Amino acid sequence: LSQIEIKLSDIPEGKNMTFKWRGKPLFVRHRTEKEIATEAGVNLAELRDPQHDKDRVLNPSWVIVLGVCTHLGCVPIANAGDFGGYYCPCHGSHYDASGRIRKGPAPLNLEVPFYEFPDDDTVLVG
Ligand code: FES
Repeated sequence: LSQIEIKLSDIPEGKNMTFKWRGKPLFVRHRTEKEIATEAGVNLAELRDPQHDKDRVLNPSWVIVLGVCTHLGCVPIANAGDFGGYYCPCHGSHYDASGRIRKGPAPLNLEVPFYEFPDDDTVLVG
């Protein structure tokens, strides 16, 4: 199936859930107010792949990214690592709670797929 529909009310605040989409892991993260504020405040000059958080999300409460490390493709672990987002155990890449690479060998941020919110409780990816 090329599209996946996810019910947002199934994902509690502070949790990341993993789905399978086009054969790849898809992360849907319901961010806390603290995570939203932290990621909005990151200085772009500190980033390897500079991208403002607001250019990576449609709604600050929800981060939707591919769960594929941009180094060599392992699946990162949610809510782990030095930046509170994701940690890839294969070679130690740390991503923040916007999915941006912050430390370790990965060159790029976690990829944001095309998605939309057809209503308040649904995200449609693909
Ligand atoms: Fe993730 Fe190498 S594959 S750090």
